[in-house]
Amino acid sequence: MKETKLLTRRVGKYEPLDLKGYEADGGLVALKRALAMGPESVIEEIKRAGLVGRGGAGFPTGPKWAMAAGEEQGPKYFICNAEEGELGTFKDKVLLDGDPWMVLEGILIAAYAIGAKQTYIYINGEYEQTIQLWEKLVVEARKAGFLGDGILGSKFSVNLQVVKGKGLYITGEEFALISSLETRRAASRLKPPYPTQKGLFGRPTVVNNVETIANVPVILANGVEAYRKLGVEGEPGTRLFSLSGAVKESGVYELEVGSGTLTEFIDEFGRGTSSGRPVKAVQPGGGTSALLARASLGCKLTTQAIRQAGSEIGTAGVIVYEEGSSAVDIVKGLLKFYGSESCGRCAPCRIGVVRMREIIEKVFQGEGTTEDLEQLRQIGKACVAASTCGMGQAFPLPVLSALELFPQDFEAVIENR
Ligand SMILES: Cc1cc2nc3c(=O)[nH]c(=O)nc-3n(C[C@H](O)[C@H](O)[C@H](O)COP(=O)(O)O)c2cc1C
Repeated sequence: MKETKLLTRRVGKYEPLDLKGYEADGGLVALKRALAMGPESVIEEIKRAGLVGRGGAGFPTGPKWAMAAGEEQGPKYFICNAEEGELGTFKDKVLLDGDPWMVLEGILIAAYAIGAKQTYIYINGEYEQTIQLWEKLVVEARKAGFLGDGILGSKFSVNLQVVKGKGLYITGEEFALISSLETRRAASRLKPPYPTQKGLFGRPTVVNNVETIANVPVILANGVEAYRKLGVEGEPGTRLFSLSGAVKESGVYELEVGSGTLTEFIDEFGRGTSSGRPVKAVQPGGGTSALLARASLGCKLTTQAIRQAGSEIGTAGVIVYEEGSSAVDIVKGLLKFYGSESCGRCAPCRIGVVRMREIIEKVFQGEGTTEDLEQLRQIGKACVAASTCGMGQAFPLPVLSALELFPQDFEAVIENR
């Protein structure tokens, strides 16, 4: 397995604020092309490229832009989601820090395509240096004429505001993010209406993940055909995989979609487990993705293959657990985090996540019963079925999969009472 550096090819190759360095290495070609093509053609190219969102939900980008573009005239907004709060996920930071002009170029093209004059980048509040860098980048971009009126001599005018995230996992969820930007409590909402219909300040809004938006200049600069040569049928391009947990080497690796299996990825890039013991389980798509047991790790790194194996590719945050660690510990650690992250809007998630955390702590302390395990299962299933947003629908998945794959770990703690 080797990396295919499509989005990360410039990372570290130019000083982050050096626009000339970016331009000298092929930067801004896509923006110039987009302005010459017109908004409809840009959206058509992104549709033809088959780009799907990298923020976790996997929504197709071109159709999303078309929905916002098709809404009535008036203010429209574009938001780049750089909250990156999901456990085991740190790939957007590589692009934000290592090739910020490319991300900015993607934001400008997106805004042009949907007809937005105001854009935002909502950055994880813990990425302090990244926020500082982006504040400086906005100043540089304005000086160079890439923000403000009449970009590159065209009729297109656009502004970008850098917003420091509030340090909550839930603010990555698009409606919670929008509420937070409106200076209201960060809470999800029922859909529809979707943000493309009624988003920020009640106006059509597109929210896209950083990695999604970084694909845009690449597609427009290299052409759709070149882009579609990479990846697999229905899932073109590359993905940035964050690798962490019990591996010798954690990091972010850009791979062509489908270029290897989970086992190969862990062995070759992570150099195996920290202790050298076999892998026990893996979460392939961040902390809310279901666990896969060792027997399922032969699946290819594609959305379909990982789904068939029983989990989701999600944010492509691969978290590795090794033999010797208990599923009870794993679940307890996950629920400790998600247990205080519900926005509180809907009852299943608000109550369910706290109850599940309480039960697993009781089980961990050796005070659990088989009825407690059944309750854990039932509450988890109810959250998945009845929660408003992806938080409540997903956080129970690793718990449910742990109970199914490693019942002996839970029984051992109960038997030891
Ligand atoms: C609880 C929760 C947290 C999320 N956190 C993020 C995040 O940090 N970054 C992100 O891009 N998307 C996140 N999402 C997904 C967003 O709601 C939205 O689908 C995404 O930003 C759309 O961008 P994309 O189409 O480019 O993937 C989160 C969703 C949920 C339910």
